[in-house]
Amino acid sequence: MSRIGIFYGSTSGTTKEVAKRIAKKLEVDGKDVHDVASARAIEDLGLYDVLLFGSSTWGVGDLQDDWDEFVKVVGSADLSGKKVALFGCGDSSSYSDSFCDALGIIYKAIEGKATVIGFTATEGYSFDSSEAVIDGQFVGLALDEENESRLSEQRIDQWVTQLKAEL
Ligand SMILES: Cc1cc2nc3c(=O)[nH]c(=O)nc-3n(C[C@H](O)[C@H](O)[C@H](O)COP(=O)(O)O)c2cc1C
Repeated sequence: MSRIGIFYGSTSGTTKEVAKRIAKKLEVDGKDVHDVASARAIEDLGLYDVLLFGSSTWGVGDLQDDWDEFVKVVGSADLSGKKVALFGCGDSSSYSDSFCDALGIIYKAIEGKATVIGFTATEGYSFDSSEAVIDGQFVGLALDEENESRLSEQRIDQWVTQLKAEL
């Protein structure tokens, strides 16, 4: 059985809550859900076959602060043989030109180093531009808890079902 580890960065707690919801649906134990701000997170990366990385987007199209260092760690880590899935929270209304960009930044750091799973369709979202969209798809699960929280449960459920099939 694959060991799944969830690593998130969250400034006001939204992505943290989403990480917990995903963990529950994937039956991932709380001890395998890590805040990337914690020093242990780096050594913990090696414990897992499957890594879920979550970040909100801040500034205009920036990684969540705690990811600034962690993305370098992830980018230089040996991820060969691992599967990675990305999720994140953004605001498609106020930041329509940089919606969930952090997912795209993390994707570029790990591209070619691991098997990335969990791409999703952009249908049903309303935004102008996103670094998280590559070849017409989001590189992971994009959520907007500010404006579309009513859609999140279904989006998470669909994504978790997809991940289970891709694991
Ligand atoms: C100052 C500021 C800048 C933001 N910049 C972006 C952005 O560029 N793109 C985006 O999609 N969301 C942006 N957001 C929205 C946050 O990503 C969103 O509120 C998210 O749910 C926060 O999650 P967290 O509490 O896990 O950090 C911004 C929010 C604030 C307050």
